[in-house]
Amino acid sequence: MKIAFCCTDTRPEPWLEGLKAELPDAEIAVWQPDAARTPTAAGLPAQPRAASSFQADYAVVWAPPQTFIDEQTQLKALFNIGAGVDALLKLRLPPSTLVVRLDDAGMAVQMAEYVCHAVIRYFRELADYDVAQQEARWAYRKPRRRQQFSVGVLGLGVLGSRVAQALQQFEFPVNGWSRSPKALPGVRAYTGQEELPAFLNASQVLVNLLPLTPHTENLLNRQTLSQLPAGGYVINVARGAHLVEEDLLALLDSGHLAGATLDVFRTEPLPPQHPFWKHPRITVTPHTSARTMRDETIAQIAGKIRALRAGQPIAGVVDPQRGY
Ligand code: NAP
Ligand code: GLV
Repeated sequence: MKIAFCCTDTRPEPWLEGLKAELPDAEIAVWQPDAARTPTAAGLPAQPRAASSFQADYAVVWAPPQTFIDEQTQLKALFNIGAGVDALLKLRLPPSTLVVRLDDAGMAVQMAEYVCHAVIRYFRELADYDVAQQEARWAYRKPRRRQQFSVGVLGLGVLGSRVAQALQQFEFPVNGWSRSPKALPGVRAYTGQEELPAFLNASQVLVNLLPLTPHTENLLNRQTLSQLPAGGYVINVARGAHLVEEDLLALLDSGHLAGATLDVFRTEPLPPQHPFWKHPRITVTPHTSARTMRDETIAQIAGKIRALRAGQPIAGVVDPQRGY
């Protein structure tokens, strides 16, 4: 069995070691985007070979170039080392190759802590206490009513359902929105476009955990965000292209929205001159709300490769028509 590793901006050595430890019978190679295109077998000295001489059965990828896909003609499955497959699905992929996303693999708990932190920061008005401290001012704020601080989670998949569950630990009322009907304990579930307005009206804080698809791109816009209650908050931890940036700025500046926590952006890294950096009501983090955890990811991918080889079904197979 052959595995190709093609992850831009990722140091390959620890991945190769981990994959080799999990799958000792695999020949594993790093795909290099240089002219020589010299795959380097794990544990073996680098050997020049033609690209076509290493035809992998499986590939572990993040944002691979089209050339990689075009060269690897025997792939049974592409394992994305993230949950979102929007970048991968922009490529021309062979229809017979399975595209497999990460299922949690250590990301859900991170997402839950990030979102709970942001919600609690808003609910407890901690930014105002930061200002008061700067001014050496001992100033209480009137407690907010938790029952009036509903959190709406867009997307109730692997990450959204974990976030919804975590928020309930703090007794926030939780709403959820998904494409198909859901029954999650304690979550008021809304389904499909027709129930989106009611969901938005009922959510003081909007958390975005949708995949980026043609149906969800630009979903956070002036029209939808205006349907949040006055003084609402937005937490975008999914993809930058879900959000129409100028619409968010207009609603913050008009006072309809009270704040936004943004982890993802249309252009990443966020350019230094971008207005989000200095906006007093926007918190920016560098696409870090849920990072890929190497050991958990390798274990998950290796387990799925073993299952596929044994002819067993696996979770996390992407439907290219649906886009996630
Ligand atoms: P997932 O398990 O595929 O869940 C997606 C959810 O979105 C599902 O509940 C799905 O509904 C719903 N959905 C999809 N299209 C919809 C539509 N048109 N209308 C209504 N609901 C729709 O995905 P996940 O693992 O939770 O990950 C979600 C996203 O988080 C990823 O795609 C990625 O972009 C982002 N992410 C960001 C970071 C970060 O660090 N910022 C890290 C990891 C992931 P159904 O349940 O009905 O199918
Ligand atoms: C990160 O953004 C991911 O999709 O895993």
